[in-house]
Amino acid sequence: MFSFLQKKTALTSIFPSDFVDIHSHFLPNIDDGSKSLDESVALLRRMQGYGIKHIICTPHVMESVWENSSETIQQKLDVLNTHLKSINFTAISISAAAEYMLDANFDRLLKTEKLRPLKDNYILVELSFLNAPVNLYETLFNMQIAGYKPVLAHPERYSYYHNNFSDYKKLKDAGCLFQLNLLSLTNYYGPEVAIAAQELLKRGLIDFAGTDTHKHHHLDFLEKGIDKKVLKLIEPVLKANAFFGK
Ligand SMILES: [Fe+2]
Repeated sequence: MFSFLQKKTALTSIFPSDFVDIHSHFLPNIDDGSKSLDESVALLRRMQGYGIKHIICTPHVMESVWENSSETIQQKLDVLNTHLKSINFTAISISAAAEYMLDANFDRLLKTEKLRPLKDNYILVELSFLNAPVNLYETLFNMQIAGYKPVLAHPERYSYYHNNFSDYKKLKDAGCLFQLNLLSLTNYYGPEVAIAAQELLKRGLIDFAGTDTHKHHHLDFLEKGIDKKVLKLIEPVLKANAFFGK
């Protein structure tokens, strides 16, 4: 009875207790994510409601747009954690890495600075939504020569790969791990991205997941019910994220 009502379940109700969100923008006033300490706290309280206990904030590092450094990120992390302590918010442990755009600045950073990892030597990287950089494979190679493991953020969102699915395999063969945005499964970015996300999951190409939360509207979508068949596909990936908390 009422089985038609039970075909959909929200992602926010199935996070394993050891899930680590490895992609998020909760640090205030550092990029296009949270705009204030109050907004950060409100967003984090919602994350707490989903049973999430560990979050890695990943502010953008993007030439001419978000010129953050390891120091500016650490400073904002300290501000947020000090504030959370002052209000006795201890339900979630917050650390910070970065989301590096693979641009000319990144190639320079790779040579001159220590990058902020998600854990050990795992580095979250993103590509332009217009086109991949011409030297993409060279950069991926150089990252690995420098001892880093590239984790590509939201591969399902790069529309230029949607009709060239073999490129995804090529990226994996070049040493990239893939981090899916959970919002992609909710249709937040549209049907093409949702289809690509499911296809990547079905082909076993996704290693990890993240919420990529910037604002309340994202969490509103995350709370929407999605098909249980899709939940089955993402469940093992959510479990894999525990790796970052160990
Ligand atoms: Fe992001």
